[in-house]
Amino acid sequence: MFKIIGTGHALPERVVTNDELSTFLDTSDEWISKRTGIKSRHVITGETLSQLAGEASRNALDMAGVRAEELDLIIATSCSPEKVVPGVACMVQELIGAACPAFDISSACSGFLMALDVAAAFFKSGAAKKILVVSAENMTRFVDWNDRSTCVLFGDGAGAVVLSEGDNLLSIRMHTQGTHGTVGIYGPKGNSPFETVDRPERNSCTFMNGQETYKYAVGAMSRDIEEAAALADIGLEKIDHIIPHQANLRIIMATQSKLGIPMEKFCTGIEYLGNTSSASEPIVLDIENRKGRFKEGDILAFTAFGGGLTDGGAIYRW
Ligand code: ACO
Repeated sequence: MFKIIGTGHALPERVVTNDELSTFLDTSDEWISKRTGIKSRHVITGETLSQLAGEASRNALDMAGVRAEELDLIIATSCSPEKVVPGVACMVQELIGAACPAFDISSACSGFLMALDVAAAFFKSGAAKKILVVSAENMTRFVDWNDRSTCVLFGDGAGAVVLSEGDNLLSIRMHTQGTHGTVGIYGPKGNSPFETVDRPERNSCTFMNGQETYKYAVGAMSRDIEEAAALADIGLEKIDHIIPHQANLRIIMATQSKLGIPMEKFCTGIEYLGNTSSASEPIVLDIENRKGRFKEGDILAFTAFGGGLTDGGAIYRW
């Protein structure tokens, strides 16, 4: 199906620590660190999300040695896009000077894996030879900064991969369990004179039942790794690195203990990223890749969960 030939990421310059949050919210570094593992997050100030997505994409293209004109497709993922229209993928296409079709996938924090699954189908059909997948999130724009139970969890950033034909993706399996009350982001309230129902909840941005999300996440992420490994006919002990969605260190640790895979195999960046939704996996992938962590032939497992509810897992040979 495909192989990853380049990775890239970009983060906003501004870093906000837990201590800074506690200057205007009834919270503390101790509460946030203990419950989530998050110490700080990058927050968009003057940048735009498309600039970050463009920078992450250029970094991935440079590593791949691929020119933007050579791309056959751009798939972007975001649940916190800069604009509803045009989508992030179209804005990236303009910024990097590509000419191929480009579209967005909205699948919350599972978006990156969903995009890899879609990309795999394009390679399988022969419709594409080079694809850019870019995940970019501005979650700090879609939280209520008066709601300490959600705003402390999120950060902004973008991550990208360039894919070419290859047989390195060994398995991928996505799931959706349509449930709208557990976690979500309301769209704008609007001012249509024809709406007959007042919808005050739409002012409240991101909503979440934390404990329900937590339970769902641990169950889904461990099951998805087991399922993807079985599909690839790989024993769990053969997995060298796990790239989980970065939502909460406690969720990652609970998944680790359920699977019995050593914690050193989990790649984490939650401490300084916060939850960057669909961007979290390609950001962490790029950071670890540039450190030289992955050796040729290593087995990587990806897993994510998010609003929808959606989740999935994949096994990839580096
Ligand atoms: N600082 C201090 N106290 C807080 C804060 C805060 N930032 N937030 C909540 N509290 C308080 C609550 O008010 C509550 O107080 P009370 O006992 O007096 O009522 C207490 O802390 C405990 O709150 P809980 O919600 O029960 O805390 P919990 O241990 O469940 O941790 C958390 C909350 C971290 C959100 C956890 O449930 C979690 O990680 N859930 C999963 C979240 C997640 O993964 N989201 C990703 C999906 S988002 C997406 O897809 C877009």
